[in-house]
Amino acid sequence: MKGEDTTMADTNHLNADYLLQLSCGYWKSHVLFTAVGFDLFTILNRGRRTAKEISQTIQANERATEMLLNALVSLDLLTKQENYYANSVLSNRHLIKGNPYYLGDSIHHFHNMMDTWAMLRETIETGNPVSLKDLPEEVDPHDVRDFITAMHNLASVKTEEICSKIDLKEAKLLLDIAGGPGTYAIALARANPGLHAVVFDLEHTIRLTREFIAAAKIEDRVTTQAGNCLEDSFGEKVYDAILVSNLLHIYNPANNTRILRKCRDALRERGLIVIHEFVLDTTKTHPQFAALFSLNMLLGTQEGESYSEDEYRVWLANAGFEDIKRIDLESNSTLILGKKK
Ligand SMILES: C[S@@+](CC[C@H](N)C(=O)[O-])C[C@H]1O[C@@H](n2cnc3c(N)ncnc32)[C@H](O)[C@@H]1O
Repeated sequence: MKGEDTTMADTNHLNADYLLQLSCGYWKSHVLFTAVGFDLFTILNRGRRTAKEISQTIQANERATEMLLNALVSLDLLTKQENYYANSVLSNRHLIKGNPYYLGDSIHHFHNMMDTWAMLRETIETGNPVSLKDLPEEVDPHDVRDFITAMHNLASVKTEEICSKIDLKEAKLLLDIAGGPGTYAIALARANPGLHAVVFDLEHTIRLTREFIAAAKIEDRVTTQAGNCLEDSFGEKVYDAILVSNLLHIYNPANNTRILRKCRDALRERGLIVIHEFVLDTTKTHPQFAALFSLNMLLGTQEGESYSEDEYRVWLANAGFEDIKRIDLESNSTLILGKKK
């Protein structure tokens, strides 16, 4: 009995409160979605405000606005002194539009996924995704812009760390496969002045990639190539390094091995491959974000899921890579590096 009590206390998961927290977790998400939707944090960047002042600015009900603001204080996203609300340190860093580490577009992207997640039961029953927006022929340009801007937000908070972990001092040419907004290619080119980077992605994405490259004023060293990584070649012995970031979770093991073989062909001798992903352990149950992300891929792609380090190692070895090593980032993702044999 005593032993049982200790286990309960140690896990702190097996209690009623934990279940209630899980059940109403979406309340917190909606408070954040609503605040970002009103762009409250950018408004408060101009100076502290009362609930009445904010409700007038966002043209909303005063009593309801005050409740929202109080909930935001409880979530550490605002502070409150007397009747004045102000941004917290976290909100100042990530929730003010125009700041380099702004995450509002990615929060908007998570909000957009709510309807898909509401279909989880049906998806589990059928095994089929409810949303096939990742398929090129079904893409709405507005959705692509939202998605790619969200990817830019998420990448922007990781570029510094990723640049510090990938040694490209000797590299002259990098291929960023499925590079989306090109955020990593741009950061790696900036961090390595001798490097030219090519961002490869689907035609509808590449149109937006060019906008991000132009905004970064680095058109002379970061260029684009439109193509489909399942169908097109990446060239033969052209690149010193290839980055494959957040692509392989969209496809099945057979397609991923095909993509990695094409990467091997496109690399020069001893060229470097870097995979960036949410990587599961061998039980496929941890880390928690990767396990949940697997469901996100089940809901939104035809054949995707989160994979384990062992799976990436097998595909890399089968595709002709060696010296495979893993680097965990401080956030929720991992780099897996290998060298062409
Ligand atoms: C999750 S985003 C990752 C973007 C970027 N690499 C990053 O890590 O932030 C996935 C990218 O893969 C691209 N993609 C998906 N299927 C593709 C394919 N068959 N060929 C080329 N690009 C593809 C999408 O257009 C999108 O830009």
